Amino acid sequence: MPATDPPWWQSAVIYQVYPRSFQDTDSDGVGDLLGIRRRLPHLVELGVDALWLSPVFPSPMADFGYDVADYTGIDPLFGSMADFDALVGAAHAAGLKVILDLVPNHTSDQHAWFRQSRSSRSDPKRDWYIWRDPSPDGGPPNNWLSDFGGKAWEFDAATGQYYYHAFLAAQPDLNWRNPEVRAAIYDAMRFWLRRGVDGFRVDVIWHLIKDDQFRDNPANPAFRPGDPPHHAVMPLYTTDRPEVHAVIEEMRRVVDEFPERVLIGEIYLPLERLVAYYGRDLGGVHLPFNFALLQTAWSARVVAKLIDGYEAALPHGGWPNWVLGNHDRVRVASRVGPGQARVAAMLLLTLRGTPTVYYGDEIGMQQVPIPPERVRDPFERNVPGKKLGRDGCRTPMQWDTSPYAGFSDVEPWLPLGDDHRHNNVENQRADQTSIYQLHRRLIELRCTRPALRLGRYRPIAASGDLLLFVRERERERLLVALNLGDEPLEVSLTNGRLAGTLLLSTAGDRVAEKVTGSLDLRGDEGAIVELSDEARLPSQTPLPR
Ligand code: NOJ
Repeated sequence: MPATDPPWWQSAVIYQVYPRSFQDTDSDGVGDLLGIRRRLPHLVELGVDALWLSPVFPSPMADFGYDVADYTGIDPLFGSMADFDALVGAAHAAGLKVILDLVPNHTSDQHAWFRQSRSSRSDPKRDWYIWRDPSPDGGPPNNWLSDFGGKAWEFDAATGQYYYHAFLAAQPDLNWRNPEVRAAIYDAMRFWLRRGVDGFRVDVIWHLIKDDQFRDNPANPAFRPGDPPHHAVMPLYTTDRPEVHAVIEEMRRVVDEFPERVLIGEIYLPLERLVAYYGRDLGGVHLPFNFALLQTAWSARVVAKLIDGYEAALPHGGWPNWVLGNHDRVRVASRVGPGQARVAAMLLLTLRGTPTVYYGDEIGMQQVPIPPERVRDPFERNVPGKKLGRDGCRTPMQWDTSPYAGFSDVEPWLPLGDDHRHNNVENQRADQTSIYQLHRRLIELRCTRPALRLGRYRPIAASGDLLLFVRERERERLLVALNLGDEPLEVSLTNGRLAGTLLLSTAGDRVAEKVTGSLDLRGDEGAIVELSDEARLPSQTPLPR
């Protein structure tokens, strides 16, 4: 098949599924692959193009699949390899790509590689992990901390050394400086690429290489009580090491052995560091995940600045991407409130670059409070009481009004949101003004309007709660006006003229309104206006993209 130009992942909308929580079909309270397959029509109706699955590989589930015990299998909890193949086949038949979650930074401590590695100091796999002698006082080799609380070093009494784990002790880090390790992971990648997967989201890719001198991380002067404990030091020697880029280039070459595949990197770094992950001559990851909208204060000025800063920082030809939610962060509807969740959706789906939608955000699912006795997240269990838990954004998908929301016919592994009886897909499908229908319309518009999919981004100066920009391609110009506040406001173009037709409002109740001179927005409302030939934008040089 000839390569598409531009590549599919540039015009795609990606949808992240957390498999445990999407659809249970075998009545164990945990979602499975067959469930995802049965729910593909939902993805098709929503209009997304690609499905990213959080890990489904065999795992003791200490970190719910981010502790992989076998890179080329399927955990029986989720189904079989035949179920996986059937899912990929059905997704492809429905026009959906499938992206897997590759977790190469660490394995489970139950992985055969680690069992071998810890068996003796002279084992051929010893160097596949990061083993160090104790410091002279017998303690850990240095001050590195685990992201999940406590020291990042675990003592192995049998062999008298410590191993490094950036996350749980049950997730020992692989030694990516060892070429055999790299080759083994690349083989696993080829295994799935040959099975037809369309790419990978690579877990914590900026962690892969650690300092070869094992220097102490410096103390973090900005650390405050209540911050996650590992923020006490700055991860200078444990993440974002310069040598990581050569490794990522190697990984990219593996993906490029197969046509039309995508490599996405999970990278939590400030934008100016993040963009380095496009790599030299764009030979790094295709999409370094841009989490800026997940972490920003929700104010028009701050958001406008971050969009402009990101656009300006991108390397030539580097394709942007945006995301509002994932399985590690508080749900967007709870972060910004239900009214602004609609505005955020309009922003996500009208910005330049590939958007990723987290399952449930299309119906405005809220962060669910988890009673202490039902906490499952190992991070929360290790560091309780700090509201760091991730269970609340991983609760079962709310499909319908039945007792377990159509997710399962038994009590699910995590509690359902209290609002599931009314806030669910079934109800929102029937309501033309729902946030679900808004997502559908936004995605449809993105699909039918090249300006939204591929056009230039042109910021328009605005004040107060108004966020304003234009997407343009050839003669098509679409103005996106977002009210990030709850008071009404009037949009007009200083030193320009506003004229056109309103295509879509976040409220879902305004259609084909003529816009002349100014546009009234209600509180929490956003709108897309197709500018007519009479419209004149304030003179401003468009960004050269
Ligand atoms: C990032 C993943 O998104 C998160 O869920 C996981 O716990 C850590 N990486 C460790 O794999």
